[in-house]
Amino acid sequence: MTRTMYISNAVEVITLEGHTDKPAIKEAMSEINVIKNGSVWIEDGKIAAVDTDENIRAKYHDRIHEAEYIDATGKIVTPGLVDPHTHLVHAGTRENEYAMRLKGKTYMEIMNSGGGIHATTRATQQASREELYEQSKNRLNQFLQHGVTTVEAKSGYGLTLESELKQLEVTEKLQKDHPIDLVSTFMGAHAVPLDEKDNPDKFVDRVINEMIPEVARRKLATFNDVFCERGVFTPEQSKRILEAGKEYGLIPKIHADEIEPYGGAELAAEVDAISAEHLLRASDEGIKKMAEAGVIGVLLPGTAFFLMAAYAEARKMIDAGVPIALSTDANPGSSPTISMPFIMNLGCLNMGMTPEEVLTATTINAAHAIGRADEIGSLEVGKKADVTIWKVPNYLTLSYQYGMNHVDTVIKAGEKLVVGGQLDEKLSLSYAAKA
Ligand code: NIG
Ligand code: FE
Repeated sequence: MTRTMYISNAVEVITLEGHTDKPAIKEAMSEINVIKNGSVWIEDGKIAAVDTDENIRAKYHDRIHEAEYIDATGKIVTPGLVDPHTHLVHAGTRENEYAMRLKGKTYMEIMNSGGGIHATTRATQQASREELYEQSKNRLNQFLQHGVTTVEAKSGYGLTLESELKQLEVTEKLQKDHPIDLVSTFMGAHAVPLDEKDNPDKFVDRVINEMIPEVARRKLATFNDVFCERGVFTPEQSKRILEAGKEYGLIPKIHADEIEPYGGAELAAEVDAISAEHLLRASDEGIKKMAEAGVIGVLLPGTAFFLMAAYAEARKMIDAGVPIALSTDANPGSSPTISMPFIMNLGCLNMGMTPEEVLTATTINAAHAIGRADEIGSLEVGKKADVTIWKVPNYLTLSYQYGMNHVDTVIKAGEKLVVGGQLDEKLSLSYAAKA
């Protein structure tokens, strides 16, 4: 039986079409394509037509009765949002460190004295698969409620082969169980374990010789990421790790120039990374090289907000021709949020982006940053029917009002999972209930 759905008569349908082959850059980041009084026709989980309501009715008039009808009158429709950078699978929270930072301690001071990433690593190492699964699934449900239908998830709170595999296996299980599409990234080089602080190269060797081969053999990740930062991994170590991953088919990503300019953007271009993340302090030279090499800049304004740091220079990067995507960086230390709508606000208010650019950066360019633009990120015929319906009168309102959740309905591959802002009940089932 054909499953058919008819999303009818939205004030605006924002299609983001025409950027599937290459990420949008410069002026093209503003080409979001708005259909007034628009409708979407869905068949078998895919988009069959996107047009004005008048045209859709004319085209499907003899089949309207067979379709599940969703009235989008007074609302707007966008592609399901894509979050291309999260640390989804982890245990515990770090509100104690937040309180310390409010009193003047810095993020790196806390990390260097054994907290930070190390604190979450301890909690994650100690957590069972079931606990990690349950906590991560709840986060995914929250993502969904905030209009997100695809999420990238990094490991990197294990830092031993066994524990990294545990995180990646939880991601793999959630990939199977949860309707959100998950894209997995191995990030064994997230920090040098405390007991190996004096010999970081030995840890780098282990990442290269033990972890990467096993992660690749078991096909547990698509991407390989590294935290290239003074006091964590040097550009030389990062390069070794990313090149080693390439040998095993893992595509490079890189946490670059988050705290200080350190050659991360330049390295991303050199190793042909799909994306470089953070870039708060990227150099002009690095930005130029990224533009030349077509490396996507995944900017994480939630992290600048939460670390009370200077924001990445999105305006400069867009003008230089770097394709820009936006993400939450969801993690317990530097960005404890799952709200892509809030990231849109920050993109406009603190990074000089326009409402059109932030829409591109949270949909089609974000899909490119995780290699999925051929199937998601825009409302185009043949793509997955991942659709978010927002209870706002126009798309400007998405990045104008803040601190509110305007999501009305979320459709994932043609299935309604959020209705009237409420999550479908079956998504709250626990691990035990499913097993
Ligand atoms: O992207 N910078 C490195 N990694 C994460 C933060 C991880 C943490 O603090 O737990 C980030 O900001
Ligand atoms: Fe991150």
